[in-house]
Amino acid sequence: MKITWLAGLLAIAATLSLAVTGVEKLFSQEEPAGQEKSVGQEKLPLHEKRMSPDDLKLSGELPGVPANSVRFVSYLELAKLPQVTFTVTDDPNFKKKAEITGVHLDELLAALGIPGKNTLIAAICDDEYEAHYPVEYRAAHDPILVLRLNGKQLAVSKRTGDGGIYGPYLISHPSFTSRYRTLAHPEEAQIPNGVIELRFVKEDLALGAIHPPGEFADGSPQMQGYLIARENCFRCHNAGPYGGRKASVSWSSLAKMADSKPVYFSAYIKDPPSQSAYAEMPSFPDYDDATLAALTAYFRAFAPEKGSK
Ligand code: HEC
Repeated sequence: MKITWLAGLLAIAATLSLAVTGVEKLFSQEEPAGQEKSVGQEKLPLHEKRMSPDDLKLSGELPGVPANSVRFVSYLELAKLPQVTFTVTDDPNFKKKAEITGVHLDELLAALGIPGKNTLIAAICDDEYEAHYPVEYRAAHDPILVLRLNGKQLAVSKRTGDGGIYGPYLISHPSFTSRYRTLAHPEEAQIPNGVIELRFVKEDLALGAIHPPGEFADGSPQMQGYLIARENCFRCHNAGPYGGRKASVSWSSLAKMADSKPVYFSAYIKDPPSQSAYAEMPSFPDYDDATLAALTAYFRAFAPEKGSK
């Protein structure tokens, strides 16, 4: 009895402290006067069940929600959050210049009372592709959850390919400038479509799951491979509970392949159809030998050690 009571009290205390963190964040933000009111004062109502195909599923670290449960928020409720509108000219998902209206991902965090610090947002699509928004990426690129494209809500339609404007949600940017290049891989815009779920995870845990185990210097092939895999492979290949599941081939399977069949591994990355008639993975024709070698070295670092232990 006593234990249950204490646990209840602790849960309330935890919820309160999280709520306070959210509020502190709101007040510490430098918003122009007048906008303050709209930020977070109306907390987003969360529902336990999906009520419409355009509800957005939320999962992960949600304050006040029991661990491992999911919630849903409706399109109309999202539309009540502060909206921004931009004309986008460089998003390859849009055939020509497009006007996007939606909510900054950081605004959404604030409305949910989720601390921005150490939160990585994963946007999960109807095909289990997953785009990732670490803190640093959000600060640099201002990703926006798009609610309206050229004034209209996005249709929820059956997927027939990659790219495009699948609803219920997609994510875009006012504009995207690649900040750095790792070997033959330029920093890549994370622009998923057909987004049905946002998952909020602890960034150190998610990125820790794919950090090469062991001591590798910055600039080593393993660390370069890590930077590329984090932006690229992680969208379709999962490491435990983190990362996309579109491929259904896990990080540890890739590690074993990189270790035992490095030639096949490299060839698959560069040109999947050359290795399998049924390949659905996109080709990366620009990846040169050094880039493929870095990816192989990186994934090999996860391979079970032979002999020892
Ligand atoms: C857009 C999704 C996507 C991305 C990004 C992606 N893959 Fe894949 N990958 C797949 C799919 C789907 C498969 C399953 C086989 C197929 O359809 O090609 C696959 C299969 C593979 C295989 C062959 C597995 C086997 O069983 O033989 C390798 C190797 C591989 N991926 C490596 C990578 C690496 C390394 C990266 C990052 C540089 C990467 N993939 C990025 C979707 C992706």
